[in-house]
Amino acid sequence: MDNLSNSKLETLDKLNQIVGRDIECFIENVTNNEVMERIFSENRFDGIIHFAGYKSVGESVEEPLRYYFNNLVSSILLACLEI
Ligand SMILES: NC(=O)c1ccc[n+]([C@@H]2O[C@H](COP(=O)([O-])OP(=O)(O)OC[C@H]3O[C@@H](n4cnc5c(N)ncnc54)[C@H](O)[C@@H]3O)[C@@H](O)[C@H]2O)c1
Repeated sequence: MDNLSNSKLETLDKLNQIVGRDIECFIENVTNNEVMERIFSENRFDGIIHFAGYKSVGESVEEPLRYYFNNLVSSILLACLEI
């Protein structure tokens, strides 16, 4: 899942080329509870690695609430999902 807030869809083409198949990708926001519940109820995952976070140190000092919301809410939602 990626909401493209800090990435480009073209990168997916490069990843597909590297692995030699089409990777299924959801263009969605991991802080959206309804979306998360739908995707996890409709799909089966063998494992989850959560990298969908903001990471700019300077920006996190300027906009702490945006960072808390994005990085903490997504982690809490993931932890609460019944998988
Ligand atoms: N790059 C490193 O060396 C490194 C090292 C240790 C930890 N980390 C941590 O790993 C995480 C990712 O780092 P990165 O370097 O891959 O950053 P990145 O910005 O390149 O990748 C993060 C991706 O998450 C997406 N994203 C952000 N918020 C989202 C949201 N709410 N919903 C869906 N997608 C969202 C962005 O579009 C981006 O593609 C960060 O938490 C960072 O602190 C990175």
